[in-house]
Amino acid sequence: MQYKNKNLYIENINAHSLAKKIDTPFYCYSFDKLKRNIDEFKKNFSTINPLICFSVKSNNNLNILRIIKNFGLGADIVSRGELLRALKAGIKPEKIVFSGVGKTADEISFAIKKKILLINAESENEVKAIQKIAKRKREKVNIGLRLNPNIDARTLGKISTGRNEDKFGITGKNLIKILNKFKNSSNINIKCLSVHIGSQILDHRPYLKMIKVIDNIIEKTKYKFDYVDLGGGMGIDYNLNSKKLNYKKYNLIIKKFLKKNKVKIIFEPGRSIVGNVAVLISKVIYVKSSSRKNFIILDSAMNDFMRPALYGSSHRIVPAKKNQSIVKKVHDFVGPICETTDSFLSLKKYQKLNENDILAICDVGAYGIVLASNYNLRTKPAEVMVSKSSFKIISKRENINKLV
Ligand SMILES: Cc1ncc(COP(=O)(O)O)c(C=O)c1O
Repeated sequence: MQYKNKNLYIENINAHSLAKKIDTPFYCYSFDKLKRNIDEFKKNFSTINPLICFSVKSNNNLNILRIIKNFGLGADIVSRGELLRALKAGIKPEKIVFSGVGKTADEISFAIKKKILLINAESENEVKAIQKIAKRKREKVNIGLRLNPNIDARTLGKISTGRNEDKFGITGKNLIKILNKFKNSSNINIKCLSVHIGSQILDHRPYLKMIKVIDNIIEKTKYKFDYVDLGGGMGIDYNLNSKKLNYKKYNLIIKKFLKKNKVKIIFEPGRSIVGNVAVLISKVIYVKSSSRKNFIILDSAMNDFMRPALYGSSHRIVPAKKNQSIVKKVHDFVGPICETTDSFLSLKKYQKLNENDILAICDVGAYGIVLASNYNLRTKPAEVMVSKSSFKIISKRENINKLV
């Protein structure tokens, strides 16, 4: 995304012209940015040669999964639907790991049938359920145990997953018990120790603590895991304040761990691969002025893009055409939905805006379209992929008549 002569471009496509061809709001992705993010992620960890399983929950567009697969990544899935979608995209089962606290018997059975790499179990009862199904099928199934390392990743409370009070994973003590109880099972093979402490992590120190806990468990149990799955969580720079995760340090921490422990590392990144790859192109419906502020009422809403309403997260909003006149008044960018929380951003000043102006809500590629809903009986938006000077609709806007 860049400005040329005050006009916003996604690769070589003018955002304003694109909004004349496609009904707003719509998600607009850049192929080049996606490719560069994947290349960079690989480069950051090239010395440890990990298996990178893209977290499908962050974006499950079939076209995007196909691109990701073509760049050699596997998938981290959390439901039967995501597994089906990953397979449909051509991702090989031996590159798929299954996470989640509540896998049903049907989902476990399907994952076993498809021979995926690992089912990462999150409780003793889940391990029992996998064993029971595997026994019935006369199979020996590869599983992982997800550790809850009791670490606060110091990110948004609502996306923290690694503290004992969070529902995810198994405490260290229980994990050791489960390991001892099931390590000689004829129907399950405990191959992996997995962990995921949260999302939007910009500080390497929680990862350092996490690795120490893992190292401790391996030392205590002397168990030979084939894989250590470190999850995802790598944060991105939403507000351009240059705060970035120090990948060099994270990589060094892992390298040190690998000197002692001969395992294959798995990552499950979502946000760091697709987060900054898309904008939500929106149109101003009305500018509503009061003495205290201007409400910029957009045609996109919390049903199209939920993160600000759900997590209180903040995303930059930039104009498709820049102008010089600055209005020094609070601007609240809101959607048309009948909820006060349907609000994207509040700024102290903004350039002068008029009805029909086009704006782009930034960094919406992860946890964007996947969280879209039909609230207020609104259709989910289209998704468009731009590559150099061409674009392709990779998911159509829902049809209002069908929906009704
Ligand atoms: C188990 C697991 N792995 C990976 C991810 C992806 O996290 P992120 O998008 O922050 O990289 C999540 C996200 O919640 C998760 O729960």
